[in-house]
Amino acid sequence: MKAVLIEKPENTQSVSVTEVTEEQLPDGDVLVDVAYSTLNYKDALALTGKAPVVRRFPMVPGIDFAGTVAESSHADFKPGDRVILNGWGVGEKHWGGLAERARVSGDWLVPLPAPIDLRQAAAIGTAGYTAMLCVLALERQGVMPGDGEIVVSGAAGGVGSVATALLAGKGYQVAAVTGRAAEADYLRGLGAASVIDRSELTGKVRPLGPERWSGGD
Ligand SMILES: NC(=O)c1ccc[n+]([C@@H]2O[C@H](COP(=O)([O-])OP(=O)(O)OC[C@H]3O[C@@H](n4cnc5c(N)ncnc54)[C@H](OP(=O)(O)O)[C@@H]3O)[C@@H](O)[C@H]2O)c1
Repeated sequence: MKAVLIEKPENTQSVSVTEVTEEQLPDGDVLVDVAYSTLNYKDALALTGKAPVVRRFPMVPGIDFAGTVAESSHADFKPGDRVILNGWGVGEKHWGGLAERARVSGDWLVPLPAPIDLRQAAAIGTAGYTAMLCVLALERQGVMPGDGEIVVSGAAGGVGSVATALLAGKGYQVAAVTGRAAEADYLRGLGAASVIDRSELTGKVRPLGPERWSGGD
């Protein structure tokens, strides 16, 4: 099978698309036929070697994937199941998604709900998945759509834009904070009720403590 492989025999790193055997795949109780993997920022760091994202070599990068279970000895998964994986050190410590197959722990996999196809799951990617985890965390803390405006910072970025769309879709009044005024229409199109220029907020956020910000300049 084909895989992207990062090697570092000496001090210099090399990256190639190469043939690897299934026996070379790391241990795990589920073997997945990978349909898609996204190119995350972390993957770029791993591939370029610009940050020490890869903890061991050789490494197949790809911090996420969407695919179909080929073999499984994990109780929750059987061949044919459609799954996604985001994170868990995959593509950093454990061979990742930029390969035709991946062998991973079934504990890291999420079953893909029927209405979402593999390509859509990959398009949502780890950024979209992260945005949804943030929305779920807010809901767990009791934040409700009727509570007032909700601010999304970095709104035109990967996580921020999905968070904006998700929150707006759930009925929240989203105030999207961006440093890129040209993206205002894009953000309104995602459902933002208002768009705030980041420079309006810069310097106004203080750490909690004795000198807590009182709301003045
Ligand atoms: N992507 C993932 O899979 C993932 C997963 C887990 C955690 N995260 C974390 O989530 C955060 C956002 O990631 P991302 O993938 O959405 O990155 P991104 O696409 O690069 O978006 C980051 C956004 O942050 C804003 N920003 C840039 N410089 C800033 C500054 N100096 N002050 C305030 N805001 C600034 C920009 O928003 P505007 O364009 O609106 O100006 C930028 O688009 C990062 O901290 C990342 O580590 C990401």
